[in-house]
Amino acid sequence: MRLLRVAAVVGGTTLLSGRLAAAQSTSCKSPKAIGSASDAEALAKGCSIIEGDLTISAGASGDDGIRLDGIKNITGGISIQDCPERCAGLTAGTISSSTLETVEGDIQISDVGGLHSLLFPALRDVHGSITLENLADLTSLDLGSLRSVNESFVLASAPELANLTAPPKGFDIAGDPARVRIWDVGLGSVDPFLVASSNAHTRDISVSRIPNIVYAELATSNGGTVRIEGNGHLTLGLGNFRNVSSSGGNGAGGQMLMPAHIETLNVSGLSAVRWSSSSDGNAQKRPGEYYTLGTLSVHDSALLTSLPMLWEGIGRLDIAHNDALAELAFPRDPDAARAVASSLRKIAVRDNPRLELEALSEDGKWNGTVETASWIWPTEDLETLVLSGVVHDTFFRPLEKIHGLTTSSSPNPAKPRVLDDFELTSTVPEFHCGTIDQMRMHGVFVGNYSCNGNSVDMVPPGSGSGAFRTRGEAFVGARNMFVVGVCVWSGMLGWGWFG
Ligand SMILES: *[C@@H]1O[C@H](CO)[C@@H](O)[C@H](O)[C@H]1NC(C)=O
Ligand SMILES: *[C@@H]1O[C@H](CO)[C@@H](O)[C@H](O)[C@H]1NC(C)=O
Ligand SMILES: *[C@@H]1O[C@H](CO)[C@@H](O)[C@H](O)[C@H]1NC(C)=O
Ligand SMILES: *[C@@H]1O[C@H](CO)[C@@H](O)[C@H](O)[C@H]1NC(C)=O
Ligand SMILES: *[C@@H]1O[C@H](CO)[C@@H](O)[C@H](O)[C@H]1NC(C)=O
Ligand SMILES: *[C@@H]1O[C@H](CO)[C@@H](O)[C@H](O)[C@H]1NC(C)=O
Ligand SMILES: *[C@@H]1O[C@H](CO)[C@@H](O)[C@H](O)[C@H]1NC(C)=O
Repeated sequence: MRLLRVAAVVGGTTLLSGRLAAAQSTSCKSPKAIGSASDAEALAKGCSIIEGDLTISAGASGDDGIRLDGIKNITGGISIQDCPERCAGLTAGTISSSTLETVEGDIQISDVGGLHSLLFPALRDVHGSITLENLADLTSLDLGSLRSVNESFVLASAPELANLTAPPKGFDIAGDPARVRIWDVGLGSVDPFLVASSNAHTRDISVSRIPNIVYAELATSNGGTVRIEGNGHLTLGLGNFRNVSSSGGNGAGGQMLMPAHIETLNVSGLSAVRWSSSSDGNAQKRPGEYYTLGTLSVHDSALLTSLPMLWEGIGRLDIAHNDALAELAFPRDPDAARAVASSLRKIAVRDNPRLELEALSEDGKWNGTVETASWIWPTEDLETLVLSGVVHDTFFRPLEKIHGLTTSSSPNPAKPRVLDDFELTSTVPEFHCGTIDQMRMHGVFVGNYSCNGNSVDMVPPGSGSGAFRTRGEAFVGARNMFVVGVCVWSGMLGWGWFG
């Protein structure tokens, strides 16, 4: 009875707005688990604020679904309570609220059969995490107004889920790193999870086992570890990272473009990579400009034929086990090429049977977005260089030229040298380790060395190896200084101003 009276009051206020409605919002203590549609309706009509957790029984029944229209704010979380005995699942089918805006705890809706729709179209802020997992019957999910979540967003094992409503420009996840994990869902697009509405937080993303997806646009501009395991037919869209600029404090009133950076981008199961320019502002930008990667790993992509690497800088490359890959393409624009060439530190290109590493082709190729070259030799010292596959003698010509081996008999300070590991295995029958061994002897490959399984020693200049080691240390020092230089440099580069 009390509940009904309250309901009448709340009903009377719904037509009012602003201060008055807020002043009359009704708060209720958290109820025991909701077991039926009528429980839910009575509660929701009477309470615009739930103080504490809202729990729904996994066996909740009712033809109209669990409708929580009227509730705007839950100060705890939302969760599903196990059936006391084995039950038939949520016969109500739907959990929804057209009014719920804020949940101050976690939303954890997991391990419930029978739930086919989960609709919170007005939900904006979740101060806890969202976990939606093991929902075998879920087909529709509406989080169309979602603005912020805390720590993590998990959507998993909902193989029937095909109908998603989510903000196209993404939502923010607080946390360092913030986590997004999506796997085993029936969706045809996961793009709303691959973009953040702000770059305030570093986002770790893991996406795997999405059988129906053919295109994914990775538009996050501040990534930690981003793993995308495609289904073999996935085209990955890159470059269109979101504009998260704020108008900066410069007198010209210019627009500040934020750089994009992903610490590790680890992708597999791709069939193509497609670049587009970030659509920010009116400045005509090259795809990949202002976009750097700590590590790029592209592996086990059986249908991928070409990999355009147009990032502004990549620290480590690991390209392995891509059966059809025939081309690694770098930007041909001299500034872009210089940026990539000076940032590479670790390179592993392994077991891509169609990829021929040979003399650079001098002709640029135009592919609609950018002119590309086939390979760029780094300009600074590398830590590791591991190559296996179809490697031709000609591939090393530029390096031989730089180091001028025919005349020098001491380690040539010309860069790049390989300081830690050099490992080369060529499947080309005519390949000879001769010149590579020469470079090793002259100190171009300073650490571990192996060419087609054989090692040779460096020839120490002068009387002993002591002098050589001293030089090595000097180089390590120089390298560290260079790293500092790069930070400053990329910092400046990343914060360009456009009028
Ligand atoms: C939700 O209700 C709590 C308790 O009344 C209040 O502290 C909080 O500010 C409310 N949140 C919103 C977004 O209205
Ligand atoms: C997010 O969660 C962390 C710990 O789980 C907590 O310390 C922090 O206050 C939360 N942030 C917000 C905005 O609720
Ligand atoms: C998808 O879900 C929305 C609710 O968010 C609904 O209006 C729409 O009818 C659903 N579409 C399909 C095809 O089920
Ligand atoms: C990339 O992910 C695979 C698993 O899919 C893992 O084995 C590999 O170590 C990762 N590579 C990098 C560079 O993180
Ligand atoms: C980028 O952000 C600025 C400042 O907020 C805004 O004026 C501009 O329209 C945005 N551009 C795009 C393409 O969203
Ligand atoms: C360029 O286009 C050709 C033909 O469409 C394609 O085969 C090749 O893989 C593309 N290369 C790059 C770098 O995108
Ligand atoms: C040489 O290889 C060994 C074994 O892989 C490794 O432990 C060592 O650190 C390497 N040395 C250098 C200088 O990288």
